[in-house]
Amino acid sequence: MDDLDALLRRFDAAAPISRARTPPSAWYTSSAWLEREKERLFRRHWCVVARVDQLRRSGDHVAGVLVDQPYVVVRGDDGALRAFHNVCRHHATAVASGEGRCEELVCPYHGWTYGLDGRLIRAPRLGKVDGFDRAAHGLAPMHVRVWGPLVLVSLADEPRDLDRDLAPLAARLPPDDLSALSFVERRTYRIGCNWKVFADNYLDGGYHVPHMHRELAGKLDLDAYTVESFGRLSIQSTRGGGDPRVGAAATYAFVHPNLMLNRYGPWLDVDVVLPIDAESCEVVMEWWIDPTARVDDAEVERQLAESERVQQEDVAVCEAVQRGLRSIAFDTGPYASSEAAMFEFHRGLAADLER
Ligand SMILES: [Fe+2]
Repeated sequence: MDDLDALLRRFDAAAPISRARTPPSAWYTSSAWLEREKERLFRRHWCVVARVDQLRRSGDHVAGVLVDQPYVVVRGDDGALRAFHNVCRHHATAVASGEGRCEELVCPYHGWTYGLDGRLIRAPRLGKVDGFDRAAHGLAPMHVRVWGPLVLVSLADEPRDLDRDLAPLAARLPPDDLSALSFVERRTYRIGCNWKVFADNYLDGGYHVPHMHRELAGKLDLDAYTVESFGRLSIQSTRGGGDPRVGAAATYAFVHPNLMLNRYGPWLDVDVVLPIDAESCEVVMEWWIDPTARVDDAEVERQLAESERVQQEDVAVCEAVQRGLRSIAFDTGPYASSEAAMFEFHRGLAADLER
């Protein structure tokens, strides 16, 4: 633990960006460091785990694992959305898997059955256990919130005020407007880099775009790039160069620590990055489109293929960065003036990991 505290202090969050250095490479390679991030970052912040359109009818549920914490989000008979730790109170098996619809949550192991509100309804052969209190063995709840088309959970005892954190974003991209978009597609990518390498790449204020994404660069006005920081939220934006995919403007919002919302032309794409281990991560990308824009199917496919190419270019560079972070010749680097949102992300990490 002393080592981790020393490693934390090696990043100077108080320096002006002109003198600041990026966090030491061990933040990106150490398993012990990742364990601290799980505990102090991913168990403290809101994280996107599902879409509202997956959870419209009673009994609809989505189960998954948030870092290493199994969850299930379920729509109740009363219309309320609830989230639970997806762990049977008998012997810890997951009571739900994947996505689907059910009337009750039945543990596949011994048939313990929970209502959509998490209450334990049946526990076969437990009737003769002394003092067994069924009411005390319901699924453990998690905090759950809807923001626009997204469902988020928080593992914190007292979660952050999401509306306050996202107020500057809501002013720019009203969540009700985003809810009116139509879901198109979800893709997942396993990348051989620390999860923060992917976030850092997103947060360089367009610095890498002319080098890594030649084709995209022609569609953006890179001189018009602006970066605004709001603590646990940053918004990068620029004008489009007239291409139909990008349209007149592009807004790239980063919600600390792992959520990216990209609004451009008729599109919204939402990216979530989560650690797998210290040196690999998973990125889930979901695309929505404005149904009033009347983009035909062939054009949707063409524009998704462009997004895919940009993503593959980012995957390649992120994996190259991770290989470099293992080099004994590299530890930290300076920030370019366009990398204010990245510095803000690192400062937020340092503040979260301190406590
Ligand atoms: Fe990129």
